Amino acid sequence: MDTPNLLASLFFFFLLSLFSGHQQQVVEGSSGLGPKMLFVFGDSYADTGNNRKALASSWKLPYGITFPGKPAGRFSDGRVLTDYLAGYLRIKTPIPYRWRKQLGGRVKYGMNFAYGGTGVFDTLVPEPNMSTQIDFLQQLLNDSVYSKRALKTSVALVSLAGNDYSNYLATNASAAGFPAFIGSVVNQLKVNLKRIHNTGVRKIAVSALQPLGCLPRSTALLAFEQCNGTENSLVDLHNQLLVQAVNELNKETNSSSFLVLDLYNAFWNVFNQKEARPASPPTFENPLEPCCVGVSAAFSCGSVDENGVKKYTVCLNPRSKFFWDTVHPTEEGWRAVYSTPVVQNSLKQLW
Ligand SMILES: *[C@@H]1O[C@H](CO)[C@@H](O)[C@H](O)[C@H]1NC(C)=O
Ligand SMILES: *[C@@H]1O[C@H](CO)[C@@H](O)[C@H](O)[C@H]1NC(C)=O
Ligand SMILES: *[C@@H]1O[C@H](CO)[C@@H](O)[C@H](O)[C@H]1NC(C)=O
Ligand SMILES: *[C@@H]1O[C@H](CO)[C@@H](O)[C@H](O)[C@H]1NC(C)=O
Ligand SMILES: *[C@@H]1O[C@H](CO)[C@@H](O)[C@H](O)[C@H]1NC(C)=O
Repeated sequence: MDTPNLLASLFFFFLLSLFSGHQQQVVEGSSGLGPKMLFVFGDSYADTGNNRKALASSWKLPYGITFPGKPAGRFSDGRVLTDYLAGYLRIKTPIPYRWRKQLGGRVKYGMNFAYGGTGVFDTLVPEPNMSTQIDFLQQLLNDSVYSKRALKTSVALVSLAGNDYSNYLATNASAAGFPAFIGSVVNQLKVNLKRIHNTGVRKIAVSALQPLGCLPRSTALLAFEQCNGTENSLVDLHNQLLVQAVNELNKETNSSSFLVLDLYNAFWNVFNQKEARPASPPTFENPLEPCCVGVSAAFSCGSVDENGVKKYTVCLNPRSKFFWDTVHPTEEGWRAVYSTPVVQNSLKQLW
């Protein structure tokens, strides 16, 4: 900050304190306090508005009806994992990378580089993969939007919710090649995590895969009552390799910078809550049944026909459902996941 700017700010704060009637303070770089910034990488479980409006369901009704009250780029009726994590860190939700020019003032809370539909490798969605998302942060460092020193007061959330695997199933039917492919996904993820660490980010939380076989898109054929065990055993392999990779990274960097956010057990914990604690909220009537679904298999949540007629149904109360659509939790679902002991214990290690 040069002198004229400093004077201007002091004058501004003077005015502000005149009008607001209380003392203003400039908090700058005191690393003794909590983290200042959150950087987010990955996919729709963490995206808060990066996907292009023309392409993504997250910008269509009924997405966003609970929060902020209209579609705003989140793949849910309301808040998602990123919002809960920012709340935990007591900072504002970081702005999506796409909106950094319009909402420049909020770059101080970090930035969200997550794009719905993406993976560590390219998928069918034409949005930046995780390597490119990390390039975006590197570019902002090169351009001095952030300094390496400032990143030392930041944490990162890395969400990988399975798009590499849906893409593999859609483009490569070889079941025999699946375990090897899981190995290459986790290896690429490990490279990415190391790159994020090298930018200076202090702590990095990476999500374990949620039970993919319990997503409504997998359970629809089973009346939303039973998970697909075949898919969940592939998830087990991914998560075992992920824990190994994270242990290796901590060893290689002689640190405890990397930690796993165990969404697998968190989701199961919520699914089982009704039996475990029948009386205490939040519980979900049938946790596998989504709130918003297409009227037939040809349609999905948010679909309209050529005349603009809705081709989906929405439940009366999204707060009563764990899943919003066939893949993503509701705001209440994310709140329940965030509140599980397994997630809370991991978050304590974050700072
Ligand atoms: C990510 O995308 C970039 C740009 O399209 C591409 O060059 C790169 O190979 C991709 N990375 C991976 C690991 O697929
Ligand atoms: C940032 O700068 C480094 C070092 O000059 C360079 O190697 C890298 O390609 C740059 N990255 C981006 C994304 O501009
Ligand atoms: C498809 O599977 C085969 C093994 O069955 C593997 O060699 C190949 O690399 C896979 N292709 C892609 C794009 O993952
Ligand atoms: C479970 O998932 C696998 C892999 O996607 C699929 O081949 C199988 O048909 C599914 N089983 C059921 C009962 O839906
Ligand atoms: C790792 O950290 C310990 C404790 O700070 C230190 O004694 C040791 O030399 C470090 N090892 C490496 C390889 O940096």
